Amino acid sequence: MDKKLNKGVFITFEGIDGCGKSVQSRRLAAYLQKKGYKCRLTFEPGDCALGEELRRVLLKSPAGSLSARTEALLFATARAQHVDEVIIPALKRGEIVICDRFIDSTIAYQGAGRGLDIKFLQALNAFATDGLEPDLTFVLRVSVATSLGRRKQDFDRIEEEGKVFFSLIADAYSLLAEQNPQRIKVIDGEADEDKVFAQICQKLEPFLASEGE
Ligand code: TMP
Repeated sequence: MDKKLNKGVFITFEGIDGCGKSVQSRRLAAYLQKKGYKCRLTFEPGDCALGEELRRVLLKSPAGSLSARTEALLFATARAQHVDEVIIPALKRGEIVICDRFIDSTIAYQGAGRGLDIKFLQALNAFATDGLEPDLTFVLRVSVATSLGRRKQDFDRIEEEGKVFFSLIADAYSLLAEQNPQRIKVIDGEADEDKVFAQICQKLEPFLASEGE
């Protein structure tokens, strides 16, 4: 039987490349569906026709071929279309939307990583999302060494960046979590997959209880 929520719920997963968020977001969607919730699992950049095109440009273009400003605008463009085409309609249907990366990725990667102005990126995010923010965000924290060790060998344009870049991004996620303690929950991503998932469920249960039935 379908479980009822008072309204759609928007959950995002964040962290440096190789933190395990894609595995955990898939696992959470399957778990919630089994419990009877209607779920829409999605990701950025991508999951709509324009988003897929832009994902290819953003990740497959040769190193050095996109300026930082171009990169930020393309992520924002993909986000605007994804919000309008996928996220908002699912939330309006009362579903739980689970999104692998969202606004915090732009602050961490284009802000801390590329050195673009954070205030501008916040305004750009607000424009791209039309003000939509996640209800809950899980940041999976792993060391840069773990992240590098877990990644496959055929790196995309962003994964090619070095240790310093990823350390800046990891620090930015910690700062975002400090600044948004209500929304952002930090999860120890170094633990094994089951333990990471247990931490996520523990933080999610009280939140869903307050949203539902
Ligand atoms: P993924 O590998 O988790 O699918 O994410 C694609 C890459 O894009 C990842 O290296 C992070 C990066 N990214 C940004 O730099 N800014 C953004 O706003 C988003 C959504 C992703």
